[in-house]
Amino acid sequence: MRQSSLVVVANRLPIDDSVAPDGACEWRRSPGGLVSALHPLLRHTPATWVGWAGGTGPAPSLPDIGSVRMRTVPLSSEDFRDHYEGFANSTLWPLYHDAVEQPEYHRRWWEAYQRVNQRFAEATAEAAEQGAVVWIQDYHLQLVPGLLRELRPDLRIGFFLHVPFPPPELFMQLPRRAELLRGMLGADLIGFQRAQAAHNFAQLVAKVLELPATDRRVGVDDRVVRIGAFPVSIDTAEMAALAGRPDVAARAQRLRHDLGDPGHVILSVDRMDYTKGIEQRLKAYSELLASGHVKVRDTVLVQVAVPSRERVTQYQILRDRVEREVGRINGEFGRVGEPAIHYLTQPFDRAELAALYRVADVMAVTPLRDGMNLVAKEYVAARVDDTGALLLSEFAGAAAELPQAYLVNPHDLEGLKQGLLSALEADPADVTPRMRAMREHLHRNDIRAWARSYLSALDDGGSLLTHLAPTG
Ligand code: ADP
Ligand code: F6P
Repeated sequence: MRQSSLVVVANRLPIDDSVAPDGACEWRRSPGGLVSALHPLLRHTPATWVGWAGGTGPAPSLPDIGSVRMRTVPLSSEDFRDHYEGFANSTLWPLYHDAVEQPEYHRRWWEAYQRVNQRFAEATAEAAEQGAVVWIQDYHLQLVPGLLRELRPDLRIGFFLHVPFPPPELFMQLPRRAELLRGMLGADLIGFQRAQAAHNFAQLVAKVLELPATDRRVGVDDRVVRIGAFPVSIDTAEMAALAGRPDVAARAQRLRHDLGDPGHVILSVDRMDYTKGIEQRLKAYSELLASGHVKVRDTVLVQVAVPSRERVTQYQILRDRVEREVGRINGEFGRVGEPAIHYLTQPFDRAELAALYRVADVMAVTPLRDGMNLVAKEYVAARVDDTGALLLSEFAGAAAELPQAYLVNPHDLEGLKQGLLSALEADPADVTPRMRAMREHLHRNDIRAWARSYLSALDDGGSLLTHLAPTG
């Protein structure tokens, strides 16, 4: 098999198989922050992407995308249930997001997690050429750095966690906490979204593994593992160019017309996930309608909520509750041809998303906890005329970088209502400098800047960076 000098390892490949309207099988970009971040970056970089194609059974063989070779790792239906839906998304995901839903612990899930991580490590070892750089992504694969180092000590191994890394008092719940920390420490560099996460990690390795640790380095045997914050970003220029296209502007105008030419459009775009604060947002909106602070003819809410992890009970319960609440609010406050909420569960292409961002006077991004939240950054990048108010949760990683947003605590219902009203009623003289400052920040700190800072820390400024186009 052909080998690469750069190997990216992520649970998901950047494409998913889906069924086209005519029934044929087609490949489409998979939704989610990780793929949104890495896909534009790697398009022009010779690399191999090791990942799962989204189904169960034997691994399909996928075509290269641009210069990126796809190396699929199969998941059986047991792996899918116990590794992906189980340990990754019913143990680690809720635990890492402040336990906003109860994490579940099952020994069978841990066995599947080990088994699947081993399979990813073996596939990666085969795909990497001598001395290659391997960049492992996210919470599904926390054991891969350690397993890979045993198989291939010649490799330079990076690990990046896209989701929050919790404080010790939460992480200590995990029955296999020591193994998970040791797995991550197989890397040469461990990247987090925020400095607080690196701090949490350092505290935990000192406490659980009794290793010497600061917020920048951990000593393991005869090695030093570096740790640090590398906030992930988006392809800012690409989103701005898309949003500036005449056909996208025309589409945005058409959307506004179809929404009834209201005075204010509020938009939310989320995966249907209990971390995103969708129910709290709907409650705030409903109370504003009930009190008359917001009127249906003047204001509409567009809620895009693409279904996610659909067989996991907590996700099914959430979807039922959200749909019941949307129905109730529309029943109570809507009129014929004028719903209070436009609720959409479809995946959209990038141009349609850009048109939605352009039409939104207020973008409400109010997760209860989020590693970063790229939707918030995409909205800012799309506001090419410096208009639009971003209502942003303090608990999204993005809040640390975008302090000019209208920041809210989504757990505080009154604060959330007030934040929404402030954003709706904001004076353009207040909105414009805030948006301009955020756009400037994202222009400098785009996805290429992220990759450059991470890979130069991992590879000592090595040759991989020559493949990355300059920022802006
Ligand atoms: P997460 O990684 O938790 O899903 P992020 O906000 O970081 O959250 O990333 C979500 C990504 O998925 C964004 O790039 C966004 O544009 C994309 N996305 C979300 N909803 C849709 C949708 N309905 N159609 C297409 N892409 C979507
Ligand atoms: O950003 C967090 C994340 O879990 C990514 O790892 C993932 O690709 C995305 O959300 C979407 O989730 P999933 O891969 O489970 O559909």
